Amino acid sequence: MRNIIIAPSLLSADFSRLGKEAQRCERAGADWLHLDVMDGHFVPNITFGAPVVQALRPHTSLFFDVHLMIDHPERFVGEFLKAGADGVTLHAEAMEGGCLSQALDAIHAAGKKAALSVSPGTPIEAIYPWLERLDMVLVMTVEPGFGGQAFMEDMLPKVSALRNELTRRALDIIIQVDGGVTERTIGPAAKAGANCFAAGSAVFNSDDAKEAIEKLRAACRGG
Ligand code: DX5
Ligand code: ZN
Repeated sequence: MRNIIIAPSLLSADFSRLGKEAQRCERAGADWLHLDVMDGHFVPNITFGAPVVQALRPHTSLFFDVHLMIDHPERFVGEFLKAGADGVTLHAEAMEGGCLSQALDAIHAAGKKAALSVSPGTPIEAIYPWLERLDMVLVMTVEPGFGGQAFMEDMLPKVSALRNELTRRALDIIIQVDGGVTERTIGPAAKAGANCFAAGSAVFNSDDAKEAIEKLRAACRGG
């Protein structure tokens, strides 16, 4: 069985105490911390940028999974790497081939993990030409921009198609799903082939983050 990665998304945390919230996730047994960067252009919402990632860095040793929902992410990749990102996810819809290639090189040159994401309207095949150069693919299971939305079950065929394609090419890269991940939806996503789960409200809207994460893990294993 594949390693399961649970990545709480700080988007649903208390923004007045992000350092403490990051530590709470670490104590609760999170594997990664998912950091949603939004610019008000690529998505109709604004969150935070590299200075906040940098300020958070000393507070936790969790893997920083930085999800860039911004236009022209290639312009900012260097800043996020410097700020302490361990993995950077770029949206296929936000950039063109040449820029994307350079951004992937920059991430790998820094020794970090590179991922490409598809929003619900983008076919999964759009990222197939890049698979050999990726450490992870993020299949969005909501329209990017906001936490607390309902999981789009109809994205799961994209996950299965991708897992099959990875098997066909003998690639074992991570498939992440993000948006509406709950105890109820994580099982079907795992069954379709996902092994990394960004979860905002499921973790932060619960009184006990540890219990919430354990429940997600158990549901993922079909428990
Ligand atoms: C949405 C973000 C997600 C979001 C998930 O654009 O990329 O990471 O925080 O939140 P939930 O788990 O509440 O859907
Ligand atoms: Zn995200």
